[in-house]
Amino acid sequence: MLRTHASHELNAKLTGQKVTVAGWVDRRRDHGGLIFIDVRDRSGVVQVVFNPTLAPEVHQAAGDLRSEFVVQVTGVVSKRPSGTENPRLPTGEIEIPAESLIILNTSETPPFYINEDVAVDENLRLKYRYLDMRKPRVRDIMLLRHRVTHFMRNYFDELGFVEVETPVLGKSTPEGARDYLVPSRVHAGKFYALPQSPQQMKQLLMVGGLEKYYQIAKCFRDEDTRADRQPEFTQLDVEMSFIEEEDMIRLAEELLTRMTREMLPDKKFTTPFPRITCTEAMERYGSDKPDLRFDMHIGDVTEIVAQSEFGVFKNTAASGGRIKAIAMPGCGGYSRQELAGLTELAQTFGAKGLLPLALGEADSMDALGMEQIKSVAAKYLSIEQVRQMAQKTGAKPGDLLVFVADKNDVATSALGKLRQEMGLRLGLAAPDHFAFAWITDFPLMEWNAEMNRWHATHHPFTAPVDADIPLLDTTPDKAMSRAYDIVLNGYELGGGSIRIHRAWLQKKIFQVMSYGDAEITERFGHLLEAFSYGAPPHGGIALGLDRLVMLFAGADNIRETIPFPKNQNAADLLFGAPDTVSETQMKELHIELREE
Ligand code: AMO
Repeated sequence: MLRTHASHELNAKLTGQKVTVAGWVDRRRDHGGLIFIDVRDRSGVVQVVFNPTLAPEVHQAAGDLRSEFVVQVTGVVSKRPSGTENPRLPTGEIEIPAESLIILNTSETPPFYINEDVAVDENLRLKYRYLDMRKPRVRDIMLLRHRVTHFMRNYFDELGFVEVETPVLGKSTPEGARDYLVPSRVHAGKFYALPQSPQQMKQLLMVGGLEKYYQIAKCFRDEDTRADRQPEFTQLDVEMSFIEEEDMIRLAEELLTRMTREMLPDKKFTTPFPRITCTEAMERYGSDKPDLRFDMHIGDVTEIVAQSEFGVFKNTAASGGRIKAIAMPGCGGYSRQELAGLTELAQTFGAKGLLPLALGEADSMDALGMEQIKSVAAKYLSIEQVRQMAQKTGAKPGDLLVFVADKNDVATSALGKLRQEMGLRLGLAAPDHFAFAWITDFPLMEWNAEMNRWHATHHPFTAPVDADIPLLDTTPDKAMSRAYDIVLNGYELGGGSIRIHRAWLQKKIFQVMSYGDAEITERFGHLLEAFSYGAPPHGGIALGLDRLVMLFAGADNIRETIPFPKNQNAADLLFGAPDTVSETQMKELHIELREE
């Protein structure tokens, strides 16, 4: 080894001992003849002093040091002079007066400061990700990610799960996104698809009798990149035979509970995790992944105001629409400008408009008079109606009620997004709160108007509730699935289900989805055949690892949690991928580019 100690191993107990450290020059200060260098390694920094009276040549050599030079320094661990200790540093009591210095490598001036926490353009950070990850924040997230996967592996290993790697070159598995395709050289004109998830593979492992499987699996989905989405991401993928919903829910809940307690002991969360049906989540929070750190729920006030003479309310109710509202706590005093901003925000979320109604200050809703209600709709409403609306939405004196009158799903979705955004802006989401929840009772199928056919709400391998199987022939949207999602602080952390394990039912689902017999055989023949050889009942789940680490790290973007992420444009700026390839490679792959 080129060093005797890493910086985290150094402390005052080693005073008097000769040590050798190696690392990067983090910071350099010249003080009246003395040169101070912070040497940084993965575990932290340690102060090295170059003293012209102790070792004149070494001191002189230190004059050449610049940021990010790689150095090896030997010296005797010494207590810092009284008054110069740094209590914020684990090595803050000591320093190493250098007896020798070897410059292991020099460095160009980095394109951004590594030792300072100033905002740097993200594309620049990603182009120089290897420098970016020298920053403590980035390094810490990488270490956290390692601890998370390590914890997962131990957890499943102890429970008798087997880690299996499934192939990356495969055949399309529908998860609702576009596939990444890899052209085959050997089979002209044919393509492998990169897995959107190992879904079919893990089910085949169950048919193969493995019973308990997990994998930290790479998945690929060609969809628009967002803060919580990457084209290439990682799942903790799990599958198990001979189980029901409760078994998988308990298994995942126990993992998340234990992991949170161990790694984030200050986080507050409720166990067992609350459960909400998909319908309730949509109605109450306008989202199937509601942030439950705050309530601010949506209230349907249609029946209360349908008969009013206020045009928007009356016309919406008469045309079969709904009038919905949320109460924004303490916002009753919003200025005209703030209200206009709120309306604009609601419009970006799909609302045509937003109607505000401000409640004045009072001890209780009962003490509030109509003269304290400010809204263009006020003169059409009675105080009794206002009180009923407050009851539906949880509004209190001093709050601002905001209404969207529209078709049910438009009003709910716009208010749901407004709720999420304003909940965060108003600071209603306690930072030490982890609001886990299970979302259950999803419909099996949804109508896809664009494609004019049914599609699976989760994926087509999800089992329907047994009693609902007959509905597949009549009203597929009424059939409920055996799926469950886990959400955390407004993010979908994972999802899973009990699967179909009988060939006839799997085939029926494909038929409901309007696949013809030939297409079923071509795309899923292998699975149907496998199911014909005694497939056991099974189910599973997949958790988004990047999202989990993001929430554990308190980051707001999964790019922060991925060592080498793609940027918003799905590009790898470090390597410059995707890139053109040579004519020869194209030829071998039987590919010819068409002029666009
Ligand atoms: P699903 O498609 O819900 O289920 O994915 C599971 C979890 O993976 C994460 N995730 C993503 N993370 C980052 N970027 C993406 N583009 C992305 N897409 C999904 C989310 C999500 O909840 N095979 C099923 C699981 C099963 O049924 O067992 C599946 O993949 O956190």
